[in-house]
Amino acid sequence: MKDPDSFLLPRIDRWPARLDLLQSASGLFLGLFMWLHMLFVSSILLGNDAMWAVARFFEGYFFFGSPLPWLVSAFVATVFALFVTHAWLALRKFPTHWGQHMAYLRLMRAMHHEDTILWFAQVITGFAMFFLAPVHLYLMLTHPELIGPYESADRVWSGRMWPLYLVLLFLVELHGGIGLYRLAVKWGDFKDAIAARRRLKRLKWSLTVFFLVLGLTTLAAYLKLGMEHAPRVGEPYVPTWQRAAS
Ligand code: HEM
Repeated sequence: MKDPDSFLLPRIDRWPARLDLLQSASGLFLGLFMWLHMLFVSSILLGNDAMWAVARFFEGYFFFGSPLPWLVSAFVATVFALFVTHAWLALRKFPTHWGQHMAYLRLMRAMHHEDTILWFAQVITGFAMFFLAPVHLYLMLTHPELIGPYESADRVWSGRMWPLYLVLLFLVELHGGIGLYRLAVKWGDFKDAIAARRRLKRLKWSLTVFFLVLGLTTLAAYLKLGMEHAPRVGEPYVPTWQRAAS
């Protein structure tokens, strides 16, 4: 016999909650990945050999004895898939009609509430990344063997990628920082929620400023190297120890 309560209680649709969880999980992975990515890319600040070693490490060179760039392509494909999934899930929350945009702007003006403004900043930066991030990801996917001190610096300067990287850097650091802060607020279990938000916000801004300064310094290093290497554009980098051995 059917449970009599089932006639009274509406069926709960668990899918919105599951999709929300998936959005949080994909955002967490992408946010943490972006911080690590910035640390790896900034290895150029330690010298050309250091960046060469990091690039070859991800190709399995030190394990297999020869570089396997398809390993990088496979990883980029995974990140790309997660990026698309995360963007698709986020679309559910986007204001779509002009009236919704105006209502949100009116709400922001009326409330003067930082978190409400941060949410809108996340929508704008996320929307811009729909268009800019795939350009970079496609290049990394199809030319993983062209990651190295000269190869990357040539792409940044001679390949005219630096304007895209400059904009993308600000977008990704703002979006990722706000996203990780919102995750902590949403899922964290704090005794004093107001004090926790204040602390989290301070941490978020410190990390955003740190990664922006690191990113700008790194981009400047690739630009300088790219300009110096422009007369020999396309020449791959050979590490010091290999040059000394030959
Ligand atoms: C697995 C995927 C990825 C790989 C292998 C990768 C690799 C690289 C490499 C090697 C560079 C140095 C410049 C160059 O070689 O062109 C770079 C720079 C950069 N990447 Fe990625 N990237 C990945 C994903 C992403 C994603 C998802 C974003 C943002 C949505 C991103 C944003 C940037 C930015 C902003 C720079 C410039 C950083 C700077 O110099 O300040 N990357 N990336």
